[in-house]
Amino acid sequence: MSTTTTPVTADAEPHIHCEDMVRIFSTEGVEVQALQGLNLRVDAGEMVALIGASGSGKSTLLTILSGLDTPTAGSVRVAGHDLLAMKRAERVQYQRHTVGFVWQQASSNLLPYLSAVENVCLPMAITGRAGRLERADQLLRVLDIEHCRDRTPAQMSGGEQQRAAIAVAIANSPTVILADEPTGELDEATSADVLEAMRSVNEELGITTLIVTHDPSVSEHVRRAVQMRDGRCSTEVLRRTETDEAGEESHIAEEFAVIDRVGRMQLPQDFMSTLGLRERVRLGLEPDHVRVSPATPAADAKAGAEAADSADDKDAAPNNQEDRK
Ligand SMILES: Nc1ncnc2c1ncn2[C@@H]1O[C@H](COP(=O)(O)OP(=O)(O)OP(=O)(O)O)[C@@H](O)[C@H]1O
Ligand SMILES: [Mg+2]
Repeated sequence: MSTTTTPVTADAEPHIHCEDMVRIFSTEGVEVQALQGLNLRVDAGEMVALIGASGSGKSTLLTILSGLDTPTAGSVRVAGHDLLAMKRAERVQYQRHTVGFVWQQASSNLLPYLSAVENVCLPMAITGRAGRLERADQLLRVLDIEHCRDRTPAQMSGGEQQRAAIAVAIANSPTVILADEPTGELDEATSADVLEAMRSVNEELGITTLIVTHDPSVSEHVRRAVQMRDGRCSTEVLRRTETDEAGEESHIAEEFAVIDRVGRMQLPQDFMSTLGLRERVRLGLEPDHVRVSPATPAADAKAGAEAADSADDKDAAPNNQEDRK
């Protein structure tokens, strides 16, 4: 472990900062609250996996961060841009220069009638960047797909297409890359290649990376995985490697609940069902922790025991990550 005491000169503001973000969709008189007061801070250069059940709001969040949609309420700032206050011209600049995206369907990321090198040149042609061909060739090399230079997407494998999509996404040197299930359509080995490509882009170019995934092999290989539930960030798993005196490395994963600035947090479902917590709970401030207990201990303990008997072993408990594996 480093012993340096040099203070971290991080920006006071995180690179991605969402506060109390709400997105309500209204279709035919029915309202869906896709994001329900989401809070998220991501520092510059971080790589974060976003996981969560279908419908938990992951794509809604990414679409807002990409500047294609705006939240109904709350605030969101990315690389100093206030995404709610942005006018059309700033939005266009933001999409061209600040963020790059990679979507799940390779076909949404690349134009089918252009070769790989032409696809990578295209966003740079739109912004009028000089030295396009040299940069496109360099990016194809970095992503290890030089051999696909003159092939169209149909002549490339799914993994090669997604690596080309990453090259397209970073062509204009964005500071943030957003990927919505970029490995969703790929087999395990190819997913690993694409993930590795995302990781090297993050590490070597320092691009802040947010990647939505259902794939545990992705979330287990990033330092920070944020779990979304019901339109909010509910828990986070932070991973680190420690080396003991004998030089043995151990990988430590700790799960934390996310608490917002006014003190709201989500209790894991299995905690609630095991102890029969619902509607009202008792809070107690202990010297080093907060106690949450059923409002009526005797009755709720009974209900909790019954619920626990029938509960599926669904969500893993915070701080109990080892049990999950
Ligand atoms: N354009 C839209 N109009 C109406 N409802 C929408 C729209 N987009 C998303 N929703 C709803 O918002 C909720 C969150 O959707 P979202 O696509 O963000 O989920 P997700 O976490 O990406 O799910 P998945 O893992 O299946 O991709 C869902 O209930 C969805 O039906
Ligand atoms: Mg989605």
